[in-house]
Amino acid sequence: MSATTRTAGGAIGASLDRLDGPQKVTGTAPYAYEHRLDNPLYLFPLRSEIVLGRVTGIDASAAETHAGVVLVITHENAPRLADTGDKELAILQSGEVAFRGQYIGAVVAETFEAARHAAGLVEVAYEEEPHEAELREDGDNLYTPERLNAGFPTDTDEGIFDAAYASAAVTLDGRYTTPMEHNNPMEPHTTVAVWEGGDLTLYESTQGTHPVQRTVAKVFGLDRNRVRVVAPYVGGGFGAKGLPHANTVLAALAAQMIEGRPVKFALTRQQMFTGVGYRTPTIQRVRLGADDEGNLTAISHDVVEQTAKIKEFAEQTAAVTRSMYATQNRRTTHRLAALDVPVPSWMRAPGKAPGVFALESAMDEMAEKCGLDPIEFRIRNEPEIDFETGLPYSSRNLVACFRAGAKRFGWEDRNPAPRSRQEGHWLVGTGMASSTYPVYRLPGSRATIRHEGGGKYAVEIGAADIGTGTWTALTQISADAIGVGVEDIDLRIGDTTFPFASVAGGSSGITAWGSAIFEAARVFRERHGDDPSEGDEAQARTPDNPETKNYAMHAFGAYFVEARVDADTGEVRVPRMTGVFAVGNVINAKTARSQFVGGMTMGLSMALHEESLVDGRFGHVVNHDFAEYHIPTNADVGEMDVSWIDEDDPYVNPMGSKGIGEIGIVGSAAAVTNAVYHATGVRIRDLPITPDKLVR
Ligand code: MOS
Repeated sequence: MSATTRTAGGAIGASLDRLDGPQKVTGTAPYAYEHRLDNPLYLFPLRSEIVLGRVTGIDASAAETHAGVVLVITHENAPRLADTGDKELAILQSGEVAFRGQYIGAVVAETFEAARHAAGLVEVAYEEEPHEAELREDGDNLYTPERLNAGFPTDTDEGIFDAAYASAAVTLDGRYTTPMEHNNPMEPHTTVAVWEGGDLTLYESTQGTHPVQRTVAKVFGLDRNRVRVVAPYVGGGFGAKGLPHANTVLAALAAQMIEGRPVKFALTRQQMFTGVGYRTPTIQRVRLGADDEGNLTAISHDVVEQTAKIKEFAEQTAAVTRSMYATQNRRTTHRLAALDVPVPSWMRAPGKAPGVFALESAMDEMAEKCGLDPIEFRIRNEPEIDFETGLPYSSRNLVACFRAGAKRFGWEDRNPAPRSRQEGHWLVGTGMASSTYPVYRLPGSRATIRHEGGGKYAVEIGAADIGTGTWTALTQISADAIGVGVEDIDLRIGDTTFPFASVAGGSSGITAWGSAIFEAARVFRERHGDDPSEGDEAQARTPDNPETKNYAMHAFGAYFVEARVDADTGEVRVPRMTGVFAVGNVINAKTARSQFVGGMTMGLSMALHEESLVDGRFGHVVNHDFAEYHIPTNADVGEMDVSWIDEDDPYVNPMGSKGIGEIGIVGSAAAVTNAVYHATGVRIRDLPITPDKLVR
């Protein structure tokens, strides 16, 4: 770290360089696959080639006798798991197959190449059953889940929507769809599993060491302290590594049969399209009603999405619509189609990203119907309080984001008429959208602070840095909490050896872990005073925040996008995006900016590129690689203008900060489709915006 970063009090807010930057760019930061371990073995999985049915026979003789092969594990010889309640994780316990690509075994060998080759020599016979692997909104497999993820109620209804909508002066009824998307972090899911004397160690690529420890301990029937999970560096997750998946169990099962030797399992990119989660496709209907002045009088949001038959995953897609804009007459519903597919999971801003795409598209359409500028329309419907909870907002500076963004972007001179600007072949348009994300605080994290002598402090918490900047931000927070400089902090994270930390998910990490560190510092001072001795320590847990009963806590943001569409080919380019955020105190301007740029880039990607295409006959994602599953490259990403407004929120946590990992994607895809509409006059309601949808 550079000398200019010396701080004592005031570390929070400093634009500190990433503390782990040098290790990462020199290749010395060990990711899960790279820990130096003696005598490793390599695992290559066997995956089901049918969608639904069972394995009736396995001939592994050719694989078993192949040079270098140590083990072929299948349901016929795999150890029994102690807990098979989670059907996603309970692999190799029978020959049953629940989706295409499900693990039915693995080959373990002295080299990766031998394992991979031998896996191809295993002959598997199946008995197949008819399956359903594609989402349809009129299917007979739709049901109403009891609750949505994160505990949200499934449906909400004030009971007066229909009447309010029927009597509205202006109405909009829009159907929007978002496709299945796969998280695809740069580092694939990876586990290196070692059993020694009944103790299991997992070098894991995960968003939460302790959540993996707890889940794996339960599945294998082990005492928690016999499972150690190590994850100092993680190459991205975007939610796919927020919960352990079957790959972790597979590596641990194989390692159990080869006591003492580490078994390494890193998924190939193609394997990343099965069994590590994905964003459910959604089919959404949004209806808006407004009076003559453009005041919303009715909002409804009805969602159909999918889950796996073996495990329910109920994305909270319309939950955001319950709070975002002012009207008493709100109705939201969610229906799930239970399919023979891998289990959907979290992907950056679960629920919010697809839900706000639909809502903010509808708001753009409705603004035009009401004859209002889209910013003015939103300001007119800005709520005084959170209508869903009845609570005031701890801070809600959406309008300030609109104003700052409009100025930075140059919104003022916009001709509202669609298709009003052409430059050569290019139709040029601009669009905007709102963003929001809740301030989540997961319970249970603990931090330990220990004085190591000479004014130096060790701070220990099992938190994960998935590439977001946790190492740096928690060091800054620790420095201010204890009242020393960042150079006096030795932060230790990414290992279950350290105190429990909640998952790096829901943009909750800094709130949960930082609050634990502040509390530990308070306890430390109380116990040891201002002049502690070497070895003095204190541990504390993330305290409850009583203000959550008094205030609704959310971050907000606004995007402005310029889109250029080739009038002949429908090619879309986005030369610039402006994002302005209201997220409380920013802990580290440099790493925060990266989070926003990353989120907005992922939103651009959601708008223009990403779509997992399922062939229903075979139940698999056809475009399962980066040649055909498109994500933006540098050439696709134009100028990203990111800023935030000064926001003082004393209620959220001791740092005054709101989570920033996910808000950047929420609504950014709608800003792109809104700009494309303004450029062309063609409203794209089905993501992604491929050229065929524009030239049709
Ligand atoms: Mo994030 S998708 O909540 O891990």
